[in-house]
Amino acid sequence: MAVTREQIIEALREVYDPELHRSIVDLHMVRSVDICGGAVRVKVALTVAGCPLQKSISQSISERLRRIPGVEHVEVELGTMTDEERKRLVAELSPRPEVRSAILDEDSKTIIVGISSGKGGVGKSTVTTNLAVALAQQGFKVGIIDADIYGFSIPHMMGVGNAPVVLEDRAIIPQTAHGVQFISMGSFVDEKTPVVWRGPMLTKAFQQFLGDVLWADLDYLLVDMPPGTGDIALSMYQLIPQGMLLLVTTPQPVAANVASRVAAMAKKTGQTLLGIVENMSYFRCPHCEEVTPIFGAGAGEAMAEQLGVPLLGKVPLQVELREGADAGRPLSDPHTAAVFAEIAHRFHERAQSLRGGRVGARAK
Ligand SMILES: Nc1ncnc2c1ncn2[C@@H]1O[C@H](COP(=O)(O)OP(=O)(O)OP(=O)(O)O)[C@@H](O)[C@H]1O
Ligand SMILES: [Mg+2]
Repeated sequence: MAVTREQIIEALREVYDPELHRSIVDLHMVRSVDICGGAVRVKVALTVAGCPLQKSISQSISERLRRIPGVEHVEVELGTMTDEERKRLVAELSPRPEVRSAILDEDSKTIIVGISSGKGGVGKSTVTTNLAVALAQQGFKVGIIDADIYGFSIPHMMGVGNAPVVLEDRAIIPQTAHGVQFISMGSFVDEKTPVVWRGPMLTKAFQQFLGDVLWADLDYLLVDMPPGTGDIALSMYQLIPQGMLLLVTTPQPVAANVASRVAAMAKKTGQTLLGIVENMSYFRCPHCEEVTPIFGAGAGEAMAEQLGVPLLGKVPLQVELREGADAGRPLSDPHTAAVFAEIAHRFHERAQSLRGGRVGARAK
């Protein structure tokens, strides 16, 4: 039986743009289809010239079309969209001119969770990246906003150096690594360039990260917060009233006291506390297995009890975790991976129960 154009288009519907996470047919990227016996030639227009993922798009098209009975040879010709086509696409993908992303809609399935602490340096960014990758490995679609505009660290910890793509000066395609999408001030400025913005500018950047980024259909959006209760924390409460908070603390009572202040602020503004992660909980000697509670013990439990929220897990102080963060390889060490898999599992259960079970259809 002869191969038809309809068959080809139907098959191409299953090929997704790896950055925009939509079918290349829906994105109007398929320019033409020519069929000559068992030979098929497809012309595809990419959103930007020199798209780093062109090879993978081309491969996916060939692989998918070859599965159609009768197709013997596939040729994929890649071109670039015209300015006009790109404008139309951006307008279609983000129809709202004002800053208000669909993920902020009340009926959005995306659960937005700020990762917060009172003190700096307790491991918010480390917990954010490892938890995000653990959730992605469990089948969820996950994004990260690095809301630490001055002290961004997410691109480094995720191990990606390439820039995100900005379409038509208003829509941003986030970066992707380890199956997680993310956006950070560090995606736009050099790591050594100081960001010297005042409060309103910080808030504007945060708004753009929420509203102008073409996030895929996310289950969870984790927001790596700067320490304390500053401008960004306030913006988060204002822009995302339905957002939840995950508190990170070390086992030291003083860290927990400060974290409790963040919790008090969350309660005042009506944000839901999802839970607590205790970081740097203990050190297990790699030689004799002896466990030493370097920063003391018990603050995580005490805080959980005091606030009436679950302690989702305890992350050990571990050289491999720090090395993984420095090298851009979250969950690279099996022991840490197991700890975060458990935290991700509890995180999902808790988020689901708070939201009435709307997330998780895709989870394993
Ligand atoms: N459990 C751990 N074991 C070993 N090193 C850790 C652990 N957690 C965090 N670190 C290291 O501690 C340092 C601070 O961690 P991180 O940057 O995640 O903290 P933070 O709370 O995000 O800091 P900031 O408040 O500056 O944003 C990093 O070098 C990180 O690699
Ligand atoms: Mg940080």
